[in-house]
Amino acid sequence: MINLVLGERAVCLSLGFFDLNIDLVILGVICFKSGCPCLVFQIWEEDFEVIDQRKTPNHLNKDSVFTYETVPFKFGAGVTEEIATDLSRFGVTRVLLVSDPRLHAAGLSRRVADVLKSSGIDIEIFSGVLSEPTVESWREAIDFAVTMKPNGFVALGGGSSIDTAKAANLYSTYPADLLDYVNAPIGKAKPVPGPLKPLVVIPTTAGSASECTTVAILEIEELKLKTGISHRYLRPTFAVLDPLNTTTCPPMVTASCGIDVLCHAIESFTALPFNSRPRPASPELRPPYVGSNPVSDLWAAKSMELVSRYLARAVRNGKDLEARSALMLACTYAGIGFGNAGVHVPHAMGYPIAGMVESYIPPDYGSSNPLVPHGIASIIAAPAWFRFIGPAVPNKHLEAACLMGCDTSEADSSQAGEILSDAVVHLMREVGIPNGLSDLGYTAQHIPALAEGTMRQERLLALSPCQVTQADVEQVFRIALRYW
Ligand SMILES: [Fe+2]
Repeated sequence: MINLVLGERAVCLSLGFFDLNIDLVILGVICFKSGCPCLVFQIWEEDFEVIDQRKTPNHLNKDSVFTYETVPFKFGAGVTEEIATDLSRFGVTRVLLVSDPRLHAAGLSRRVADVLKSSGIDIEIFSGVLSEPTVESWREAIDFAVTMKPNGFVALGGGSSIDTAKAANLYSTYPADLLDYVNAPIGKAKPVPGPLKPLVVIPTTAGSASECTTVAILEIEELKLKTGISHRYLRPTFAVLDPLNTTTCPPMVTASCGIDVLCHAIESFTALPFNSRPRPASPELRPPYVGSNPVSDLWAAKSMELVSRYLARAVRNGKDLEARSALMLACTYAGIGFGNAGVHVPHAMGYPIAGMVESYIPPDYGSSNPLVPHGIASIIAAPAWFRFIGPAVPNKHLEAACLMGCDTSEADSSQAGEILSDAVVHLMREVGIPNGLSDLGYTAQHIPALAEGTMRQERLLALSPCQVTQADVEQVFRIALRYW
């Protein structure tokens, strides 16, 4: 586990023999290695804002600390074969492998199970994960875990399998009503009582980065919206990142997952800065998503570069291992970034877009029911949001556009949102993402309900770089109806 706490108070507590200036030097070295001069400047500038902030009377009301935690991982083609060694490190002897019907039918879950069995690990497979998990599908996995009583979990698949494994681990370890741990106001947002059993994850898509994060997402069908659970104990114990597992991912699934990675990176990069959040009453109350900060910016920046360069290649040719490897790294980098900084308004808008779908059936997902995959839902209003908010936070939006390959040398800050929006739309078109809300079957009549669903995503809206109203969100949705 890599943990890092930086900030004025953290320096006093954890790095008592360093002063703040030494910390700034350390960050400077890290960012030179990122190779992005504009980011170097940004980080130094932000850190000097921390110093400046100490001089202001409002400083006492704002946080001055950010946290950095992530999942240890192994990366490499074929590394899945080493899974038994990885599990044995955590003393796991009886495993529930959580996967989905497609991977089970393709024989991948059986191959992983055979590797574990040959090392003497007792294993059972739950292969009933839905591509967009619901209350019912979570309950099935939880019941399976309660009956089996494993002492560890393996998740094999995309974000849906990983999130379902997180839920099965949580509710079988600390039984509760399903809404007890779910985010407010939909659930009761009770804190997870303590550490969970080991969870080793093997992603087969480069998208959700659920392998890095503290969240599990599900759809509440009766409310037609998505929400989830967020707690640091949900973060997996270890990740096995094998690009070979993604080479059979179909084109639209690759596109949706890859565009989700881009969204994670841009949103965490443009999120409310950590030192603009209210100071928590105690360190335990500091949220796992602390807002943008110098360390999460490094990871998000590299992720934006990689997705922009490699996503179209992987969509065109799934067997392109160089592109697949780059995307898996991009996914992990973005996950490390947003796994600490958080995401905000585009993802908040994405949840009702996915939850209220009536007619859109995506290619390559094997579903005959209406479905908006998470990545498409998250990106579909993002260009409109960047266009709307860019002028208020121009530097970060221009920098993001630069990292996506745009020439911003002559750009005026008033154009920041438009330039980033155009860059994202260009990539959406290149990889076959639908053309705005109208391609998903939404019209202007749906906008009030979509905006209402967005405003219920309080945890995400809290990280918006500027406060948003329902009227703002409705305006953004109107821009998002069609882009080209
Ligand atoms: Fe996402």
